[in-house]
Amino acid sequence: MDAENTRPENAEENGGGGISRKTLLKAALVAVPAAPLLVGRATAPASAVTDGPLPLTPACDDGDAPTIEQIEGPYFKPGSPLRTSLAGPGTPGVPLTVSGYVFGRSCRPIAGALLDFWQADNNGAYDNTGYTFRGHQFSDAQGAFRLTTIVPGLYPGRTRHIHVKVQAPNGPVLTTQLYFPGEPRNNTDTIYNPALLMTVRTVGSGREATFDFVLNVAAPSPSPTPTITPPPNGGGTWKAGTNYRAGDQVTYGDVTYRCIQAHTAYAGWEPPNVPALWQRV
Ligand SMILES: [Fe+2]
Repeated sequence: MDAENTRPENAEENGGGGISRKTLLKAALVAVPAAPLLVGRATAPASAVTDGPLPLTPACDDGDAPTIEQIEGPYFKPGSPLRTSLAGPGTPGVPLTVSGYVFGRSCRPIAGALLDFWQADNNGAYDNTGYTFRGHQFSDAQGAFRLTTIVPGLYPGRTRHIHVKVQAPNGPVLTTQLYFPGEPRNNTDTIYNPALLMTVRTVGSGREATFDFVLNVAAPSPSPTPTITPPPNGGGTWKAGTNYRAGDQVTYGDVTYRCIQAHTAYAGWEPPNVPALWQRV
């Protein structure tokens, strides 16, 4: 095993030392009426709400370091489906949701960030021929994401974990892993890092986990609000703002790519940068 991360500090906001700036920002975000998905999910203190929305300043002074990187491991597979749910009612395993936000170093939420998840099934096996328990999604306008899946099974040599790649528009790819508290193997897994622990609670027969990513970007990219244009007929040059469908072909840098998942192209989502979306022909 290649343990490459040793930083033990968890920069998440959940200690008894007060409320972090990031928490307040989240409270302001969930107070926005246009975010129905988030209403009722936040646990922001009342004071954070009654003080009114917090101004989103470029400075971030609560010590939130960028989320640390971890090894990709041998089971990443490009071209995952665009979907937020990797499991359904009949999927064996303990139901799990993972939700949170994608922030930049400035503590501002990042909209349109690409999150590509992959994990083992209930028996600890990866699907290396298909795309079971693989999927990517984009953070919404508030920087929020939500994954529906199951608690991954254990496999030899590792503690329980979920793999993910997170990328802001125009930003570098963060490859990391998320962990579950209270797992016995957390003590022996040489890759495990407590800074990547999710907050997990039991709800009914399932689990609800939260984790916020902090990407190493100085400021969020401009709000990705492209003017939607139809895809070119028979190909053309890749262009931000175009609404591509699976099967569309484009050229970029004299290379031809085929769209493998329908999406709206943002600056930063150039085909070489988003293997979840584009396949080189
Ligand atoms: Fe793994």
